[in-house]
Amino acid sequence: MAFSLASFFSTKPTSVLGIDIGTSSIKVVQLRRERGRVVLETYGAIALGPFAGVEIGRATALPGDKIGEALKEVIREANVTTNDAAIAIPYSSSLISILSLPAAVEKQLAQVVPIEARKYIPVPINEVLLDWFVVGGDGKQGDASGKIQVLLVAIHNETIAKFRSISSAAALQTGFFEIEVFSSVRAALDHGIAPVAVVDMGAATTKFYVVERGLIHESHIINHGSQDLTLAASRALGISVAQAEERKRKFGLSGSANSDQPGAADLHKSLELSLSPLMAELSRTVTAYEARTNQPLSALVFTGGGATLKGLKDFAQQKIQTEIRLADPFGKTQAPAFLEQILKEAGPEFSVAVGLALRRLQEIG
Ligand SMILES: Nc1ncnc2c1ncn2[C@@H]1O[C@H](COP(=O)(O)OP(=O)(O)OP(=O)(O)O)[C@@H](O)[C@H]1O
Ligand SMILES: [Mg+2]
Repeated sequence: MAFSLASFFSTKPTSVLGIDIGTSSIKVVQLRRERGRVVLETYGAIALGPFAGVEIGRATALPGDKIGEALKEVIREANVTTNDAAIAIPYSSSLISILSLPAAVEKQLAQVVPIEARKYIPVPINEVLLDWFVVGGDGKQGDASGKIQVLLVAIHNETIAKFRSISSAAALQTGFFEIEVFSSVRAALDHGIAPVAVVDMGAATTKFYVVERGLIHESHIINHGSQDLTLAASRALGISVAQAEERKRKFGLSGSANSDQPGAADLHKSLELSLSPLMAELSRTVTAYEARTNQPLSALVFTGGGATLKGLKDFAQQKIQTEIRLADPFGKTQAPAFLEQILKEAGPEFSVAVGLALRRLQEIG
């Protein structure tokens, strides 16, 4: 008989795996709950560039089977010991919008939202998975104009199918798929009331989410990413893309004219130059949000691999008025003290994976 009382009453803690399949790399984080605390068991990342014939750090668009291969490899390298997983769906494969609806329909959202959604979704409704949350004006009266705001999320069925097949290729039992927005917010923010923005700096793009009372109020993509820094540095310094990527990671904005490292000052200048358009766009986005909603953003929390650039926080703070913080997702987990500094520095890259694992732990807890 397969069922055994011993396993039923077993207190053996279950481990879960958060999987973030980004355009440039896959990140995995394995967590376990032990006496109410969340323990970090292992984590790892694998660059997708080599699977697509491009350099490490660059964005790729790989078919599912190649992604499955890379996923199996990182699972092996990181010594992952569980197949209980949660996987992020890329923001770019989803559609998120805010619907403003009369408060009176709050009880009939299951009927009303799919009809309203047709105005926002460019493909037939039966080709997408829809989900929604009331994020504003809730209550019988709605807001001043009698409206409620509903966050609408749509994911194409094909996307879900692709991620399901990646999951089974890697022999995983996937508990849920979640759009990365929600995972990164869960890992990067603490509970707070004031509106905060999460800025996820990826390889090709940067994602910007405004969160208020734990709910996502708006989100969009900025077309500047960390690979732009590498490509510009490669051109400016006359070095290969691979060398530029290596120097970017090693020195970041810490290299100065006084450094004995040849080309450090040039690298620094090039990185600052290529960050400028992103900083300007972030400033504009913040100003526009504050003008529209008539309330200040309390902080910008930087996350994603691009946010691990050395010296980025100080540089951004010189360019942007709002307080800049770096995400510290591993701060929500227990790990050996000697790893503290490493986990703080690497943390932003793993926000999405940590956020997924945190939710999965809660679900099975
Ligand atoms: N130590 C580092 N210093 C500077 N940049 C880094 C460092 N480590 C990684 N990066 C950069 O971070 C970028 C990748 O970030 P991340 O892993 O968050 O992207 P992704 O999740 O694959 O992309 P996306 O979310 O856009 O799909 C790469 O362009 C890489 O060069
Ligand atoms: Mg990412």
